[in-house]
Amino acid sequence: MANNDDNLLKKIVAHAKEYGFVFPSSEIYDGLSAAYDYGQNGVQLKNNLKEYWWKAMVQMNEEIVGIDASIFMHPTTWKASGHVDAFNDPLIDNKDSKKRYRADVLIEDYIAKIEGKINKEVAKATKRFGDDFDKDQFIATNPNVLRNKEKIVSINERMKKGLESGDLESIRQLIIDLEIADPISGSKNWTEVRQFNLMFSTEMGSVADGANTIYLRPETAQGIFVNYLNVQKTGRMRIPFGIAQIGKAFRNEIIARQFIFRMREFEQMEMQFFVKPGEEMEWYNKWKNTRINWHKALGLGEENYRFHDHLNLAHYANAACDIEFNFPMGFKELEGIHSRTDFDLKAHEEHSGKKLQFFDPVENKNYVPYVVETSIGLDRLFLAVLSSAYTEEKLEDGSERVVLRIPAALAPNKVAILPLTKKDGLPEKAREIIDELKYDFTCFYEEKDAIGKRYRRQDAIGTPYCVTVDHQTLEDNTVTIRDRDNMLQERISISDLGTIIGQKVDIKHLLKQLN
Ligand code: GAP
Repeated sequence: MANNDDNLLKKIVAHAKEYGFVFPSSEIYDGLSAAYDYGQNGVQLKNNLKEYWWKAMVQMNEEIVGIDASIFMHPTTWKASGHVDAFNDPLIDNKDSKKRYRADVLIEDYIAKIEGKINKEVAKATKRFGDDFDKDQFIATNPNVLRNKEKIVSINERMKKGLESGDLESIRQLIIDLEIADPISGSKNWTEVRQFNLMFSTEMGSVADGANTIYLRPETAQGIFVNYLNVQKTGRMRIPFGIAQIGKAFRNEIIARQFIFRMREFEQMEMQFFVKPGEEMEWYNKWKNTRINWHKALGLGEENYRFHDHLNLAHYANAACDIEFNFPMGFKELEGIHSRTDFDLKAHEEHSGKKLQFFDPVENKNYVPYVVETSIGLDRLFLAVLSSAYTEEKLEDGSERVVLRIPAALAPNKVAILPLTKKDGLPEKAREIIDELKYDFTCFYEEKDAIGKRYRRQDAIGTPYCVTVDHQTLEDNTVTIRDRDNMLQERISISDLGTIIGQKVDIKHLLKQLN
């Protein structure tokens, strides 16, 4: 079942701020729209997500290597990639509310509503027919479902035709015909649709020297394409091989909303896999499979993922899909997998005059490789983890707790070491334990407040283990260890702590599921 819970998103935004995960950017000046800062816990979660991706993609794959390209690139890069001419959003303004929208998103939201009707119809029938219910047959034959499905196909066709041919008037007409209203004011008084380029530009060099307009990269991928030959030659790479990168990207998003889901400055984790022409569909399917398994290994619930195949292919792709996640605002794109053909390398060959090819020793010929790309937004992954981890629980004693059930390997802190009191040598003993553990695990020390309150604070930031140092510890070198998820406590020897914590929090356990 898809989420659509504004309230949940609000709670997550508030929790993320209160517990040092995500702050509005430059908040003392009232913030900057669609820019966010990661706090002391957020940055650790983000780093752990990067580690999970990097290890799975680069460390565990002999045929993939990493790079870190600069954000500024020669301006011709963006001419070649098509971004100067075609990286546009079709925008429409509502004349009454003065709000601006992406025309295609208004139409997609309308389609999502029809999909919602279909889902409701199926849910009703499931209830009515019980165990005998044949969902596939129902969807294939029920007149209401069929009518709505036909409607979706026809809307998609009109939208695709209008966007591909650049006929923006037909997109406006589609919005009028569907009687789509401004989601805020309800008004149907729309302007024409206009194209708006999403790249941020700035100037490099002083004006006296002849300043050049350059762009903040809107995707990390082009840093990989322009380095294809450098890496292939210096790394003696043979096709098929991949280049991976994590880095910032910038887009002047018009509708920047839904917290860190759509930002103007965000981080991508991309991998371009170079293959022999003709073999791209095989690799496209393989990477679809590999990437969905990587997501599912996180344990956020298999039902929260689905593929969405693109009907409107980008100018560079011959096949593309999204991995969608069930965010608090419903199923939305988390990662894109694109078969980009030889579009980018060929375009860079043409614009640079340099050959970007591979000599295939088996075939004894040169060719421009085809590319299959996997591209995930790190901030969206962060939101996926945070939103599915956020749990409000009623406990047996009637009290309540908020716990972040973050996969243990990704938790900002792995263990909190808590002396029961601030005296009698307990803080010193606790520090001794941290000095042993800190080489392997991020540890948190806290001595203020009652122990129950300290447990709750650790639950709220997702710390898998709390270790309490008490008077008995001084006598027999044992501590109590409390598990975040079931709150059970056990008395164990200090010398066993490292092994027990490691069994749960080592990222190896996540990575081993991928083999
Ligand atoms: N190189 C291909 C590419 O950039 P994309 O589908 O435009 O493809 C890839 O972006 C991923 O980047 C998306 O699936 C999403 O997770 C993330 N992303 C895109 N725009 C974003 C934004 N404004 N804020 C946060 N993440 C974004």
